[in-house]
Amino acid sequence: MLGVRALFGIGLLVTSRGGSVLTHTGACTLISENIYRKDLTQRPACTMANTIKYLGQEEAQHIDEELFNEYSFSVDQLMELAGLSCATAVSKGYPVQSLPKTPPRVLVICGPGNNGGDGLVCARHLKLFGYEPSVLYPKRPNKPLFQNLTTQCEKMDISFLTEMPEADVIDEAYNLAIDAIFGFSFKGAVREPFGEILYQLKKITVPIASIDIPSGWDVENGSPDGIQPDMLISLTAPKKASHHLKDAITFWEDDSFLLHLKRSMS
Ligand SMILES: *[C@@H]1O[C@H](CO)[C@@H](O)[C@H](O)[C@H]1NC(C)=O
Repeated sequence: MLGVRALFGIGLLVTSRGGSVLTHTGACTLISENIYRKDLTQRPACTMANTIKYLGQEEAQHIDEELFNEYSFSVDQLMELAGLSCATAVSKGYPVQSLPKTPPRVLVICGPGNNGGDGLVCARHLKLFGYEPSVLYPKRPNKPLFQNLTTQCEKMDISFLTEMPEADVIDEAYNLAIDAIFGFSFKGAVREPFGEILYQLKKITVPIASIDIPSGWDVENGSPDGIQPDMLISLTAPKKASHHLKDAITFWEDDSFLLHLKRSMS
């Protein structure tokens, strides 16, 4: 079973900031271009992609457990890093000044588990970065961690929606949707209301940024008729499903512990 230490051996390491696995050599350029520009494909693709380890579901789970049990990270610590990484990635891929609609609204859809918690943290940081996030959080776990993250968002005047807007409403009102529904531990069938939410997400034309795994996808085998995110923010290391992204370009974020895969807009 691949563990944190094994990742060192293949040229990846856990940064001092924890939770994320980065390549050593930093051969790839920073992503900072605006996704709405059409010249994305003219940039050299990241060569590092070939050396990156793609994690299977069990490996991802194992690394997570190791970070908790052996490296003594806490859930809220890793969640804060994950959410901040996601907000940073979004702000680089979709800079607030470049958004076609003002106010710079983004829809953040949070699922019932840790991926949803990452989404709440992401929304909070996006607000600080000048975006106008609205959160849809239909299934809230009865645990202090998630309740606290929700309170923090509410105290920052982030609005919570009571139901999923129709696809055309999202296209009209929002600049992008952040998919924080399911993460690497997702298995089996999608339950409501998330089936309907994913159905609407498949119809929207504004970009989707997925956190860790495109929600509803099999973590290893992808999902040919699932949602097709424009950006995938891989936490710790990319999961095997990211091979199945259509037209993906891999970018290496050197200094903020994450990896993006984006679909070319051209
Ligand atoms: C949630 O917030 C309360 C204070 O309102 C604090 O005492 C508690 O430790 C927090 N719990 C977690 C899991 O963050």
